[in-house]
Amino acid sequence: MAIKLISLVVTTLLVASWDAAEGRFIRFPTSTPPLNRYSFPPNFDFGVATSAYQYEGAVEEGGRTQSIWDKFTHEFPERTNMDNGDIAVDFYHRYKEDIKLIKEMNMDTFRFSLSWSRILPSGKLSDGVNKEGVQFYKNLIDELIENGIKPFVTIYHWDIPQALDDEYGSFLSPRIIDDFRNYARFCFQEFGDKVSMWTTFNEPYVYSVAGYDSGNKAMGRCSKWVNSLCVAGDSGTEPYLVSHHLLLAHAGAVQEFRKCDKISKDAKIGIVLSPYWFEPYDIDSNADKEAVERALAFNIGWHLSPLVFGDYPKTIKTNAGNRLPSFTKEQSMMVKNSFDFIGVNYYTARFVAHDLHSHISRPRFMTDQHLQYKFTNRSGDYISSESDETKILWSYPEGIRKILNHIKNTYNNPTIYITENGFDDYDNGQVTREEILEDTKRIYYHQKHLQELHKAITEDGCDVRGYFTWSLLDNFEWEHGYAVRFGLYYVDYADGLKRYAKNSAKWFEHFLQRSEKTTPLDLFKSVKRWWSALQMI
Ligand SMILES: *[C@@H]1O[C@H](CO)[C@@H](O)[C@H](O)[C@H]1NC(C)=O
Repeated sequence: MAIKLISLVVTTLLVASWDAAEGRFIRFPTSTPPLNRYSFPPNFDFGVATSAYQYEGAVEEGGRTQSIWDKFTHEFPERTNMDNGDIAVDFYHRYKEDIKLIKEMNMDTFRFSLSWSRILPSGKLSDGVNKEGVQFYKNLIDELIENGIKPFVTIYHWDIPQALDDEYGSFLSPRIIDDFRNYARFCFQEFGDKVSMWTTFNEPYVYSVAGYDSGNKAMGRCSKWVNSLCVAGDSGTEPYLVSHHLLLAHAGAVQEFRKCDKISKDAKIGIVLSPYWFEPYDIDSNADKEAVERALAFNIGWHLSPLVFGDYPKTIKTNAGNRLPSFTKEQSMMVKNSFDFIGVNYYTARFVAHDLHSHISRPRFMTDQHLQYKFTNRSGDYISSESDETKILWSYPEGIRKILNHIKNTYNNPTIYITENGFDDYDNGQVTREEILEDTKRIYYHQKHLQELHKAITEDGCDVRGYFTWSLLDNFEWEHGYAVRFGLYYVDYADGLKRYAKNSAKWFEHFLQRSEKTTPLDLFKSVKRWWSALQMI
């Protein structure tokens, strides 16, 4: 009886102190029951996402050669906030310490990408392999597994070897298809015995559009009239060509995956897409509602439609005409069903309005959609209650549920992993570390997106198997350099790249706590300890 009473007291205390700790970091809306890892299906994986160029640094170490991002950041520093990934967050040297941080947050899995030019210096398998680069990734994978964290590998996250661009214009040429296939096959053979989750490409939409339509990111190509900083390019044709070759390269890699004897039977492969959600600018306008459908077709259908149905969406074919390459019958068969799951990077949403203007004389990818992106709707309301102009991505949690339902209903209910979801802080150099560590808004962001994700799974039947936050650490955010901070951990760029847990890291640690940490037996043991301590007084 005495024991029972005390255990009751202890349980209440534990819950209360747990709540108190949470209260400092999070404020669940009182009407919503709080979620934790066990609210999600069994074997649902939680993780953090990263990429090689944004994290590794050591760009001239260990036999790595230049990628297009090394060239772009050094040739046009003014286009990347005068920053580059030469050192980045030094993950190449610090991965062991960083894996401890992942483990402390109780994460199940870690998403990282392989640097192509660290593995194949010329980009081509036939020119030879850099053993030191391969060994780095083997060490990283072993360290993850030793710490109970599953590796989730992206084969290509935007950093193609510069040599392949110099030789034939990388993804502008169909020659990329075989070089990527060979690179991917090599990765499956080397790492396939220990890695069971694979993706080929990260965000083909962003890669093609930012790299070849707007020119904001490497390759930094576009039509001169789109952006005067672009040295060369054609925004009306190149984005389509690049994505076409990319889809064929993806499908070739998946063929290699499916016949590789090093890959285990339960291993899975996918591709990572990056859809926004869209709402109509004028809720009463049919033209704006159709613009939403068009935006979705261009935004996600461009890549997902070929993967599911073997061809591009009708609306893109109509609007881009002969500037859009077409698949032969054989290519179409090869691309169709070339995935086990789809990775979805979801961050934000936009209002869209039908665009009445004709852009025939100066075609480009963005205007082929015949719509305008808007920050507010016709009533002047922002998409997010938080209309912070410094943010690059605004919070619209309903969007994650809506995009998942759109994918389920339009594309035959594929298996999904949320491969990125995250919140950025703009650091203009005037914000203190302490202020950034108190990241209540980031906690809200993840909490609300997880609630909407939970509804998509439990109420709508969307088949989602995992959720990754972008990102483990603050890191090199492409054209924004280090001014935009996405990490659950703060990186002090002025003081030896020291890592500091933001409150959101602590929030995840609680959210992801495993029950084996406080089994009834543990509780009993701790009561016993208390009891014997009391006897000693
Ligand atoms: C703008 O958004 C608000 C909030 O979602 C909504 O109530 C309103 O109807 C919208 N207005 C128009 C014109 O779409």
